[in-house]
Amino acid sequence: MIGVYDSGVGGLSVLREVRRLLPEADLLYLADQAHAPYGERSIAEVRRFAETAIGTLIARGATTVVVACNTASAAALGHLRSVFSVPIVGMEPAVKPAAAATRTGRVAVLATPVTFQGAVFDDLVGRFAAGITVIPHPCPGWAAAVEDRWPDGAEAAVAEHLRPLLASGVDTIVLACTHYSFIAAVIAEVAGPEVAVIDPGAAVARQVTRIASPDGQGTTRYLTTGDPVRFSQQIERLLGERVVAAKA
Ligand code: DGL
Repeated sequence: MIGVYDSGVGGLSVLREVRRLLPEADLLYLADQAHAPYGERSIAEVRRFAETAIGTLIARGATTVVVACNTASAAALGHLRSVFSVPIVGMEPAVKPAAAATRTGRVAVLATPVTFQGAVFDDLVGRFAAGITVIPHPCPGWAAAVEDRWPDGAEAAVAEHLRPLLASGVDTIVLACTHYSFIAAVIAEVAGPEVAVIDPGAAVARQVTRIASPDGQGTTRYLTTGDPVRFSQQIERLLGERVVAAKA
């Protein structure tokens, strides 16, 4: 069974890609909504939440885990891999493909504030973006807005954030928070056809196919540490699926 974890609904965008590639796999999704959003907490807190969440998935039978959360991956991936013995796939800002795609040499990375702390982001820029200007652009409040209602009503806030980036010549935007996948169409619309929007969800799902067993009954179960009724409604709004989520 493949466990997929996020602070909230963002990882559903990755779950959707994993399901597309592995129709027969059994998937178990865990949203740590009792502690969401993670993006404005401390690295130490996020690390603690992530360890508990992965422990829950493994206790429920997950044999591969996807940390479908850039914030938790940036804060805790190395730690999680040292604590647990199951294979763990994480997310990282797609700096490398963005550096290859840009023609203006200016790339913006949209993520939560925590994702830019710690070594991961600077390390990626140092390794893959020589000669490219990579602008870290934190978007506080966006993950919570996706939890609540976005993509409906996202346009004004998105336009306000993108305006200065686009004016400075950015032609490539990296979505480095899984919640932002659900507003990718709004971002692309605001940015216009000349700007590439990179969402790494499908690439992460391909990575999962390399290590996880594709066999199972094709079941998907949804757990939350928050309110299962609210979570079921969010899944219907964002994935268009009627499901009954359970308390973790
Ligand atoms: N989905 C998350 C990410 O990819 C976390 C958002 C949050 O909880 O702040 O970064």
